[in-house]
Amino acid sequence: MANHVSCSGAKLTGEDVVLCSGCSCALDLCISALANAGDNILIPRPGFSLYSTLAVGLGIEVKEYDLIPEKSWEADLDHMASLVDENTRAIIVNNPSNPCGSVFSEQHLKDILTVAEKHCLPIIADEIYDHFVFSGSRYIPIASLTTTVPVLSCGGLTKRFLVPGWRMGWITIHDRNDIFGQEVRDGLKRLSQRIIGANTLIQGALPIILKETPQSFFDTTIEVIERNAKLAYERLSQVPGLSPVMPAGAMYMMVGIDRSQFPVFRSDLEIVETLIKEQSVFCLPGKCFNIDDFFRIVLTIPERFMHEACDRIEEFCLQHSYLSTKETMALLKINEDSAAEEAESGSDEGVDLRRASSSSSCDSDGQHEKFQQPRKKHPRPTPLLRRETVTRLV
Ligand SMILES: Cc1ncc(COP(=O)(O)O)c(C=O)c1O
Repeated sequence: MANHVSCSGAKLTGEDVVLCSGCSCALDLCISALANAGDNILIPRPGFSLYSTLAVGLGIEVKEYDLIPEKSWEADLDHMASLVDENTRAIIVNNPSNPCGSVFSEQHLKDILTVAEKHCLPIIADEIYDHFVFSGSRYIPIASLTTTVPVLSCGGLTKRFLVPGWRMGWITIHDRNDIFGQEVRDGLKRLSQRIIGANTLIQGALPIILKETPQSFFDTTIEVIERNAKLAYERLSQVPGLSPVMPAGAMYMMVGIDRSQFPVFRSDLEIVETLIKEQSVFCLPGKCFNIDDFFRIVLTIPERFMHEACDRIEEFCLQHSYLSTKETMALLKINEDSAAEEAESGSDEGVDLRRASSSSSCDSDGQHEKFQQPRKKHPRPTPLLRRETVTRLV
């Protein structure tokens, strides 16, 4: 394990590794070891909700530093620094990111380390999506860029190896100047023995899993996800009222919602709830990540479902946008009539894909956000209804 996670400039031994029951457990141990009730930690917004669930349960306050969508979700470093006080114990950095799919550059990681160093704070690096990056991007472990800021890096098999149920995660301790000292190491060790954690069968298999999984397995996964990301980005960029932010890695894409285009809804939550009710497309609202007016889509579905989901999202937005004037409805009606004619004439172009997906399930993180029920068969909006036409209607 130590060999697997060692990177240039950050060599590790077995003493620097703690095996855990998934990355969630790794995060739990790191937060518990570094902070006490009454202390605070800095976490990203939007961010994975587990950070606050774990901390708040221990009486630890969370302070959220903003990620900036216009800068590919880089951290707002001034905001981050402004949150630090005498009770701050650590900064959580999630790279590549859930929910944003962002991958930080070397310079940005160095800038974060500068803030940490200035305030004498360790980093808890959630690197569960390590190496999970699209072509043209590079994953850089934050620990490889510092000898002075101690880093607890959390990882696991869940994402890259696509085996969340195997519950295998780890903490690697990067502390070349011995700033943590024995206390933090002992704390992590003791906490890891409080409840017996990492699954022994998978521990036994770990050396083979790490050494012998062919590179082609990872390459194929990334190819599928990157293709879906491009597809969803291109399609959703065309939908009035939506602004997807192109990811560079992980499995997710955040889509901004211009709510002035959807005045009937009071929040992103209402939009997402109505989307699942009417179109059986399940996305997570920005609310789950503590940001308004976004929703997150998951990119791990087969490409044909991604097409279908984009069709449905587009149709939903056109039906609910304030541009849904009589003219738009009239155009939808024209489509409906021509679809009905097609159906009568026996064309099989409109084959109902929904049936194929109706047995899908979804896990707690929505990783298999698929279509659970057949929807009412609507005609697809034709190109007539894309942004240019809608603009003309106004
Ligand atoms: C950013 C992030 N960290 C940690 C985890 C938890 O991983 P595990 O299933 O290994 O506990 C997830 C799972 O979705 C995640 O997205």
